[in-house]
Parts: sequence; C-alpha cells; structure tokens
Amino acid sequence: MTYDHRTKAGNQGDVVKHVALLAAARHALDGTRSTFRYADAYAGPAGSLLLPSGKWASGVGKVNRSVEVHSVDIANWIRWYLARPQLVGSRYPGSSLIVSDAAAEARTPITMTLWDISPDVVADLRGVFPNQDVRHSSVNESAEAIRSADLLFIDPPALADQWALVLSLMAHGRYMLAWLPINAAVTPGSVKGSSLAESQFQQVSALPSVSSTRVLWAYGGRTIGCLLAYRSTEKGVASIRAAVDEVVGLCSWTRKDVEHFDSRVSPSPNTRLHPTAAAAGERRRQADRRDKENICLISSESFLF
Ligand SMILES: C[S@@+](CC[C@H](N)C(=O)[O-])C[C@H]1O[C@@H](n2cnc3c(N)ncnc32)[C@H](O)[C@@H]1O
Repeated sequence: MTYDHRTKAGNQGDVVKHVALLAAARHALDGTRSTFRYADAYAGPAGSLLLPSGKWASGVGKVNRSVEVHSVDIANWIRWYLARPQLVGSRYPGSSLIVSDAAAEARTPITMTLWDISPDVVADLRGVFPNQDVRHSSVNESAEAIRSADLLFIDPPALADQWALVLSLMAHGRYMLAWLPINAAVTPGSVKGSSLAESQFQQVSALPSVSSTRVLWAYGGRTIGCLLAYRSTEKGVASIRAAVDEVVGLCSWTRKDVEHFDSRVSPSPNTRLHPTAAAAGERRRQADRRDKENICLISSESFLF
C-alpha cells in the first residue's frame, strides 16, 4: 500500500519528531555562518489539513497546550502550529516547512533539497517552495546535497526495504536527525517487542557521534513508538532530549516511556563534506572545529526491549 503522510500528519510520531527537529535545526543553524543547507530524504508534504478522521487526534490532539513549557522548541512548535483552540481544520506543517520556519526565525538563508516519490507530495512541495530543489525520486546517498548538508533529516515511511539506505544516509550530514518507526512485533497470543531488530539498534549505536532516544507511546497497535537517532553538539543533544522528554510529559498517552542512549564511539564532527563544500573554506572549518569541541561524548549502551 502506498504511504500517505497526509492522513497521519500530527500523529504521535510527528509530535516526537517535530520538536526534536526544531531543536536539531536551531542548533545546526547556530553553527552556520552562511546559507544553511538542508536535505530532507523523505520529505512528505509541506503541510496537511487536519481532518476529523486523521491520526492527529491521538498525537497533537493529546498535547496539553495550556501549560507553560520550558523547552523553547516546544514553545515555538505550539505557538507556530498549534495556536488555535481547536485543531481540526488547521494545516499542520511537514518537516520542510518546519525547518524553513526555523531558518526564518534565525534570519539565515536556506537552500533545501527535498526528495519524495509521491507525485502529489512533490506538487505540494513545489507549490510551497518554488525556488527550492524538489526531486521526484528516491534519495541517492551519493547526491551532493546529501554529502554537503548542514542538516540531514531522514524520515522513512518504513524500514523493511530501506534499511541499508537509511543506515548509509545516517553517516552524512554535519548535523543529522533520523526518525525510525518501532512497530509492534506480534508473536502468537501476545504483542511484544519491536520490529526494529537488536542488530539494527547496534548498527545505529555504532555510528560515530550518533546518539539516540527511544519513545514508546502505546502497548498495542501497529506503530508503538519510534527511535530518534541524531548527531549534534552537546548542547543540541541536550535540547533534543529536553524537548522530547517534555513533550511526552505533556501528552495524555497510555504509555510514555522515554530512554536516551549515548554513542559508543568517540565523537567527531561530520566533516566529510563534498569537495565543493570543502572549498567553501576556512569559515566552515572553523565552525566544524567549534563543533568538535562541543560534540557529545558518550558511554556505551545497548538497545534492549
Ligand atoms: C513519513 S513521510 C515524511 C514526513 C515528513 N518528513 C514530515 O516530518 O512531515 C515519508 C515520505 O516518504 C516518501 N517516500 C516513500 N518512499 C520514498 C523513497 N524511496 N524516497 C523518497 N521518498 C519516499 C513518502 O511518499 C512520504 O511522503
């Protein structure tokens, strides 16, 4: 069945991923002195109408928006996208619009390269972003925009047929955020564990300077949670985690398990930029050196359910 994000916009996955994306983008923008290069490997539409039957009711519809929040990223997310008293009829943003808003807030020029295989999604993106590079194709790991991205966002609809590509993409991006679905693995007579295999967790945790956060929001159903994997500065990692911790606390979900995992490999900034990006010169190398000093160092842990 073809994946259609529009019926899922604003669901539990979006709640977790979009506050994390705002935190990741804010810190990536902070380390950018010139045009910000954003690559979105599975872009989805720029926005989707929240209709009465949509999955948003169990996502953004379950967020307590009436309390004061500590995370600036959650505060922006609520103020920018969830300000109406009732959410039905709102246009909830996709990742590309969220990151372009973050760049506008930071007053930083942005270039975006957005991939999607759905013709409807591509038409929507081209309508909203006529001056950005919207590609109607599967993402290609060797694309220059992937290799030179300041922030790479990886949000695949499913992992089964994408794992090798997703894993290879996670090596790119000066800053990187990936959202991986955790689906309930059904065994005879019970629902337990996750379809994201232990070996996949191990591969993610072995990536240099990649930290992760696992969120479980349900005991049953299909997608019961997600794994966020990210590369950022120490402050960026802290902001992503603070935003996820707090937003889950704001939700009236039946399950609210959040666990953070640190990278087992010594951190280093991702400086494997495309030659043309490298030619951008000393300014960026200085920013990278600053990142190297700040990037998060972490102990070893394994992902077990
Ligand atoms: C989970 S949605 C993206 C949601 C979006 N990133 C957001 O946060 O608002 C995944 C998108 O990936 C697209 N897609 C599926 N397979 C793809 C592929 N091989 N390459 C690029 N895009 C793909 C789908 O059409 C869908 O729009």
